[in-house]
Amino acid sequence: MLHHNVILLGGSGFIGKQLAFSLANRGCQVTVPCRRPHRHRSLLVHPRIRVVEANVLDSEQLKRLCRGKDAVINLIGILHERNKGDFRTVHINFIKSLVSACTDNSIKRLLHLSALGADQASGSSLYLRSKGEGENLLHTFGQKDLEVTSFQPSVVFGKHDQFINRFAGILKLCIGFFPLACPGSKIAPVYVGDLVKCMVDTLDDRSSHSKRYTVCGPEVFTLQQIVELIIEAINAHCRVLPLGNALSKLQAAVLQNLPGKLFTLDNYRSLQTDNVCTDTEPCPTSLRQYIQNLGVLFNNKKHYAEFRQHCANNRDTSFSQEP
Ligand SMILES: NC(=O)c1ccc[n+]([C@@H]2O[C@H](COP(=O)([O-])OP(=O)(O)OC[C@H]3O[C@@H](n4cnc5c(N)ncnc54)[C@H](OP(=O)(O)O)[C@@H]3O)[C@@H](O)[C@H]2O)c1
Repeated sequence: MLHHNVILLGGSGFIGKQLAFSLANRGCQVTVPCRRPHRHRSLLVHPRIRVVEANVLDSEQLKRLCRGKDAVINLIGILHERNKGDFRTVHINFIKSLVSACTDNSIKRLLHLSALGADQASGSSLYLRSKGEGENLLHTFGQKDLEVTSFQPSVVFGKHDQFINRFAGILKLCIGFFPLACPGSKIAPVYVGDLVKCMVDTLDDRSSHSKRYTVCGPEVFTLQQIVELIIEAINAHCRVLPLGNALSKLQAAVLQNLPGKLFTLDNYRSLQTDNVCTDTEPCPTSLRQYIQNLGVLFNNKKHYAEFRQHCANNRDTSFSQEP
């Protein structure tokens, strides 16, 4: 790889861990700063991945961490605010110190993970507007000093995701009806392995400089269709109760005040925008096929036999390569 010595911000998260392994397997030295390194020991099994304890929101620490690196990849992001102003801190202000850390260390290459629908002016939620503003900031600076490429994925699925796993965990306990907010929202979920491959392939690709790529999977589903696929795969004893707009909003208003913030009003607003790509070639991995294999993860004997048969027929190991 041309960019050999990479600092991966957000490398301790769901997508970040996959990306760290993928970069390291291609020969990069990968430094992953994070707040609680003891929680991410799984990264240490790779000799080319280094995990360091740091607070990257501290601009001086960030500058020191970037010293001697050829490229920066930024995945840091949050889906909801714990305190008012968190989106601004993490998605916008952090980007400003990231740019100055790159300038001070003469780093010329930066990849950034944004989100599909991110739009500073007209994003439907604070999450989407703040992601859009951060991305715009990077591309503005990028015209002068940095070669920036950003990615806007739809919802990402994979072994440790917070989407399919979270629904599956709740549905497994549910009996009767499952009240689902925003059931008609359209999503084109993309497999984490596909997204990570796009990012790694792009790192040394000069034609990608200053570009923004939307990244989607091959199928478009409504949220209700996805939940129904999960129910079937894990053999849950419930049916979807689709909520209308007013009840969806009410559910968000209630749940955002409970511990864990399963669903917030800002999430509800994000779901008002369809999460689908209009003009890009979709990534190959099918969510439908992935969910069918979920039964195995949830000890569902009915699907285990089918899954084994499927793997034997297709020699399909793609889902077992995740760390
Ligand atoms: N997953 C999706 O479906 C999806 C879809 C579209 C876009 N994205 C974007 O992709 C990126 C990664 O998503 P993900 O699903 O991998 O998220 P994740 O698992 O929640 O990981 C988020 C990462 O950001 C770090 N982080 C968050 N707040 C921080 C803070 N205040 N200070 C320092 N580090 C902080 C976390 O570090 P700790 O380990 O220390 O908490 C973690 O490494 C995000 O920017 C997200 O907006 C995700």
